[in-house]
Amino acid sequence: MTPSAPPAELAARAAELRDQIDQANHDYHVLDAPKISDAEYDRLFRELKELEAAHPELRTPDSPTQRVGAEPASRLEKTEHLAPMLSLDNAFSPEELRGWETRNARMVAEVRTAGYDVEPKIDGLAIALTYRDGVLVKGATRGNGTIGEEVTRNLRTLRDIPLRLRRDGIPFPALMEVRGEVYMSISGFAEMNVRRAAAGESTFANPRNAAAGAVRQLDPSITASRPLHFFAYAVELDPRAGDRLPVATQSELLGALRSWGLPVNPLATHCDDLDGVLAWLEGYERRRGELDYEVDGAVVKVEPLRLHEELGVVGGREPRWATAYKFAPDIAETTLNSIEINVGRTGALNPYAVLEPVEIGGVVVRLATLHNFEDIERKGIRVGERVLVKRAGEVIPQVIGPAVHEGEERKGEKFPVPTECPACGTPVERPEDEVMLYCPNSACPARIYWGLVHFASRGAMDIRGLGEERIRLFLERGLLGDVADVYYRLTREELLGLEGFKEKSASNLVAAIEESKTRGLARALFGLGVRHVGEHAAEILARHFGSIDRILNASVEELEAVHGIGHTTAEALHAFAQQDRNLETVRKLAAAGVVLVEERTSEPATGLLSGETWVVTGTLPTLSRTEATELIEGAGGRVTGSVTKKTSYVLVGEDAGSKLQKAQELGISTVTEAELRERLAQSPAGDPPPTDTPVP
Ligand code: IVH
Repeated sequence: MTPSAPPAELAARAAELRDQIDQANHDYHVLDAPKISDAEYDRLFRELKELEAAHPELRTPDSPTQRVGAEPASRLEKTEHLAPMLSLDNAFSPEELRGWETRNARMVAEVRTAGYDVEPKIDGLAIALTYRDGVLVKGATRGNGTIGEEVTRNLRTLRDIPLRLRRDGIPFPALMEVRGEVYMSISGFAEMNVRRAAAGESTFANPRNAAAGAVRQLDPSITASRPLHFFAYAVELDPRAGDRLPVATQSELLGALRSWGLPVNPLATHCDDLDGVLAWLEGYERRRGELDYEVDGAVVKVEPLRLHEELGVVGGREPRWATAYKFAPDIAETTLNSIEINVGRTGALNPYAVLEPVEIGGVVVRLATLHNFEDIERKGIRVGERVLVKRAGEVIPQVIGPAVHEGEERKGEKFPVPTECPACGTPVERPEDEVMLYCPNSACPARIYWGLVHFASRGAMDIRGLGEERIRLFLERGLLGDVADVYYRLTREELLGLEGFKEKSASNLVAAIEESKTRGLARALFGLGVRHVGEHAAEILARHFGSIDRILNASVEELEAVHGIGHTTAEALHAFAQQDRNLETVRKLAAAGVVLVEERTSEPATGLLSGETWVVTGTLPTLSRTEATELIEGAGGRVTGSVTKKTSYVLVGEDAGSKLQKAQELGISTVTEAELRERLAQSPAGDPPPTDTPVP
């Protein structure tokens, strides 16, 4: 073999690898829809790198190995935020906005007169910029709210984002995270799409997707080439550092951000009260079309920052002090052609409307939900008649009722409430206190189908390549009787015998199935699709019980005694565990090597505070809230955000507000920092901690 020219097969292989990697990058970063596993990606990348190292002539300038700083193994690095990046509750009408104020005023009467700041809600990508001593040191996406992706080098390319803050303004804290929204201007988006189309490249669906794709890039030069901008709207400090912001209200905070050289939306306005906010919103909604960026409403924020602390956060996710005011939804009229029924994985019979296609807010709608049969009956929705259909944001369109026209005779037919499952013919059941009808047959083909789709989905076992179409094929071939069969019947040999499978696609799927075995107990439990057991409940149960056996052997009482698990969930889970078919599935999963245990990290049995639920409120003499939380959790206790009957103790500091009041109303013991410290000073090896006696 001559050492110079590489054989033609190798050149062809390099070209193929480049194409595959480029395609995978595009699926992952731009479309947000990866089709191959990380392991497979890494394998392709490694093969290309080795090939290029052995034959440097094969290395082209556009090879994915030549990207600036590309880190193929880990893709974008993960990074933790100083404090969680929260989301917002919505208000869809002036009445709902007033309801928000009323609820807040019950906790803190002052909100009615404290004033509001109102800002456009930018439809972009939330990011956090870390400034240390005024220098930009990190940029991150929101991620799951706690951990995001590190995109510093990409964000540095945005000219709106200062790399160094101005020092001639208001003094800034030594360490802070500036929060805001990266967005693409509508005009820039349109120009970019025209250019891309002319160059034969794919175009983006909307400015939001384009912005998100541009920020989540491995190559900063791509980010730099896109028309991205930034608006700052919030600041988070290190909860441990004891830093304070030199401002007292949200409007002043925006002023401070401006003085540091950060872009702040020029429309942000102070209003004295909610009437003022509503008046502003009216004008804003009328003029939204004039803006060169997409907005999906406005954000209304209570002005004084000290009230933010007092109002707190609901469920660790949504602050009470801010809410998103969404524009009125778009409504259109069309004909209801038929009503079909989909049987879901839990057996629920979901009716949906097949409509005469109609455009609503720029989107053609053909299908819409109908909630349940009682709703169809009560609203008088009839097949063959005109109906009103509503589409709000990303939400699935829904039929809101008949479009009644005066003097018109009703000619449609009433839809008969089904008595049998449309998929398997089993008589349907209706649980007490529920409006939904259910097919009780756990072997119902529709339930099995959707159960498999759910099992393989991203939030559950995340089996790439096992989508709806393939599941349908495998069911037709009789390969899958339950979710566990995925691990037994979908072998390479079996797949190779099926239409549409080649060596590569078969081994990809087999690898993805194998990889899914290690997702852990919480996701496997969620994947089983037990009614009422969502991702959150599954996590709580996994952490509490530590194994699938303990969960399935628990009584209803034991299940509902777990903080965060309600009676309905406990009953559903218990009922699930009574069915042999389900137990058999679980047994098969375990035998296949699917991980069905989890280490119980949050509640060490030996901790002084184990089994106790704590709430921290007010300003403590020496501890920050995070430190207090760490102290309690370190001793085996749990810390939650709101006082309920299940709260064991409330740790109170100075200026404690509504939470203290709630604790007093419910008769829950309160403890000072000194008392907590005293209690923790006891020997941890002593007797189990008291759970029903007040501290010292
Ligand atoms: S404040 C604690 N202000 O909306 C509240 N958010 O649905 C933090 N957003 O994730 C958000 N414009 O990405 C705030 N002027 C604005 C906003 C805004 C857009 C986004 C943000 C957030 C989401 C919440």
